[in-house]
Amino acid sequence: MKAGRAMLLLLVGTTLSAGLAAAQDGPASTAHPALWPAAKSVGLVDPAIEKKIDALLAKLSIEQKVGQLIQADIGTIKPEDLRKYPLGSILAGGSSPPLNAPDRSSIGPWLASAQAFRAVSLEQRPGYVPIPNIFGIDAVHGNSNIVGATIFPHNIGLGAANDPALIEKIGRITAVETAAAGMDWAFGPTLAVPQDDRWGRAYEGYSEKPDISKAYAKALIDGLQGARASGTIQKGNVAASAKHFLGDGGTTGGVDQGNTEVDEKTLIATHAQGYVSAIDAGVMTVMASFNSWNGEKMHGNKSMLTDVLKGKMGFDGFVVSDWNGHAQIPGCTGTDCARAINAGIDMVMAPDTWKGLYENTLAQAKSGVIPLARIDDAVRRILRVKFKLGLFDAPRPYDGRAELMGAPEHRAVARDAVRKSLVLLKNEGRLLPVRGSAKVLVAGTAANDMGPQAGGWTLSWQGDGNQRSDFPNAQTIWEGIDEAVRAQGGSAALSPDGGFTAKPDVAIVVFGEAPYAEMRGDIRTLEFEPGDKQALAVLRKLKAAGIPTVSVFLSGRPLWVNPELNASDAFVAAWLPGSEGGGIADVLIGDKAGKPRHDFQGRLSFSWPKTAGQFVLNPGQPGYDPLFAYGFGLDYRTPGKPLGKLSEVSGVDASLSNRTVFFARGAAPAPFSAPAVAGIARSAVDSPTQQEGAIRLVWSGSAPAAFTIAGPQMDWSRESNADLSLRIVYRVDTVPAGPVEIAIPDGDAGKGLPATAMFSRKPGEWQTATLSLKCFAKANPELSKVAAPLRITAAAPFGLTIADARLVSDPNASSCPE
Ligand code: BGC
Ligand code: BGC
Repeated sequence: MKAGRAMLLLLVGTTLSAGLAAAQDGPASTAHPALWPAAKSVGLVDPAIEKKIDALLAKLSIEQKVGQLIQADIGTIKPEDLRKYPLGSILAGGSSPPLNAPDRSSIGPWLASAQAFRAVSLEQRPGYVPIPNIFGIDAVHGNSNIVGATIFPHNIGLGAANDPALIEKIGRITAVETAAAGMDWAFGPTLAVPQDDRWGRAYEGYSEKPDISKAYAKALIDGLQGARASGTIQKGNVAASAKHFLGDGGTTGGVDQGNTEVDEKTLIATHAQGYVSAIDAGVMTVMASFNSWNGEKMHGNKSMLTDVLKGKMGFDGFVVSDWNGHAQIPGCTGTDCARAINAGIDMVMAPDTWKGLYENTLAQAKSGVIPLARIDDAVRRILRVKFKLGLFDAPRPYDGRAELMGAPEHRAVARDAVRKSLVLLKNEGRLLPVRGSAKVLVAGTAANDMGPQAGGWTLSWQGDGNQRSDFPNAQTIWEGIDEAVRAQGGSAALSPDGGFTAKPDVAIVVFGEAPYAEMRGDIRTLEFEPGDKQALAVLRKLKAAGIPTVSVFLSGRPLWVNPELNASDAFVAAWLPGSEGGGIADVLIGDKAGKPRHDFQGRLSFSWPKTAGQFVLNPGQPGYDPLFAYGFGLDYRTPGKPLGKLSEVSGVDASLSNRTVFFARGAAPAPFSAPAVAGIARSAVDSPTQQEGAIRLVWSGSAPAAFTIAGPQMDWSRESNADLSLRIVYRVDTVPAGPVEIAIPDGDAGKGLPATAMFSRKPGEWQTATLSLKCFAKANPELSKVAAPLRITAAAPFGLTIADARLVSDPNASSCPE
């Protein structure tokens, strides 16, 4: 008996070590399913439905099967195109408008668009079997692409709330508002576990540790799809998409779409945990990730997509690829990529490449380059989801229910989420809560601005260009404070620059990052406002006037803000709260007597850095030394120890941080400089906001001369594609007597653009020019080797004063120089 046991143990031991030895074989990007956790797509496979799928599959032509595998973006396809190209799905990308209407539209045009595509997909036509279209959208913090929707805090704030029951409610509301707009599929939850906070998508992750992601995956999916995927569109549910599989949060350097260089154990322990519970919860789709794992693109990694995800992890829904992600697989192009489907992608997101991709995939299916069994499996998975969702069944009782968009009971949940997401980092002298009867100054550029309050993936892809009027069902932070203070008998005044006439009792300063999303949001160091500390200037001005200051910091990640913390008596990390600014006043503003109305509950789900150089700062790592550790958060019962004065040495070379501010407050901040040149006299003069905050340039006109802001060579090809602009605040002092050119020299190609008109208009007045990088990219294709961010050349007498020059994201206000 004993011997038998020992034998068994020995055997187990041998198998284990054989398994481990196998794990060391092969390229580091080949997964070993045996090492992965098992999961089960609960509720997705239903024998009755599988029978219906068998019957349908038997009737489908190869053309229709291949069509099911392809998804086009609404910006490049019309409903009638589906007659020739029977595609299975349409998505609305972040900056893609509905049919015949602007991108910022309320549900009317969106519903009409979804219905128009569905109608063609369901037409009875000779040789065509009606199969409903599935319409997907980035409903990632509410149905956030649609005017009037309830906008929830971005995931980083929800992570701080650490409340799965709340997340399920949010999922349910998001589903209802997505279904009301006629859509079937939300591209969430994001289960990334961001490791390097420089990553521009850090805020899409719930936490830098896997635990919260794991708990939330189930909660959000239950909310979106209905528990155990039993929900259908008839119940106001939609399909979820766990994304991005796998390792998006682990790229080296925090580079978006980069390379995740970790061993398989780490990939499983840190990045895969959310997928275990997502699959168990019956998630209907999983989105493949743009990133590579040890050099191999996930989109082409068969061991991961097929052997691990669909094999060991038991995923029975379908895998959708990400926005032209297949084109990044070596050997593929946007229109030609058998490898993606062979690796396990079931539906290819081919936003603008669908036509060519359809034709090539059809040929590859016919020739056997893609085996028919693979095609049938992919179609089966897609049909499974379409049946499960109830897309084959009429009626759709939620379609067009406009009253559900931003409904008061939805907004109340969002407001609760805002309250729960706030993390109190400092509260010296128990300044908070502010007495409701106080005289409050509300300062900071973000106090009354829905842009930074909602962040990226809101109405537009990058969240730029958003106006107050785009949010009919919302409250800014200022509006919330004003309402709360007035209700308690106090008074509030709004002053973005911190100026005041009557001295307030306290100032609440709201500031933070400008909105961004993928790619554009990647930063080089964790320093907040490198190059030009605008918020700090406001805080210091108020402090100098003897006014106690409360900072409300809006950001998509923890950033190094020691100078701002020092200049604040209280400091609240408010993340990207969304449409319900009132939730902030609920916690910050007490009653008449100063008793709290709501306490702080948020705790950091990301560690807060002590220096701007702690890019990768996660619990458990050797030498972990944050300013505020994972899990930190004060409240009114535990006010915490005094913080003392923090070091204001950022720990990074300032020239590393700043790549966007070229001239501000009278100087070119590091790493930029504005060298003196012969032929241009210069002097310091006042700007609209600061004494000696501007530089006055006088061209003598005796010979051509160029004012150049010099700096390190920069690659702006992404910035140019992403529609960024060069913004200059200037005043014409003397109208030029000859032509003027403006340039962004790129390598040797320093071609300038005519700018005589813009520098001749309105002499004597301060004006702002927002010049699209795209205009410059036309003169110097690519902008991949920018040698200087700004050069102005004149050969005749000309007088110009410059107060500010920087890179901004404001495509709506942009134009070309003239
Ligand atoms: C993003 C996804 C998103 C998709 C559709 C991609 O660029 O990575 O998260 O769902 O676009 O907009
Ligand atoms: C789309 C986004 C997409 C992105 C990827 C944008 O134009 O609107 O949805 O994620 O491109 O590059």
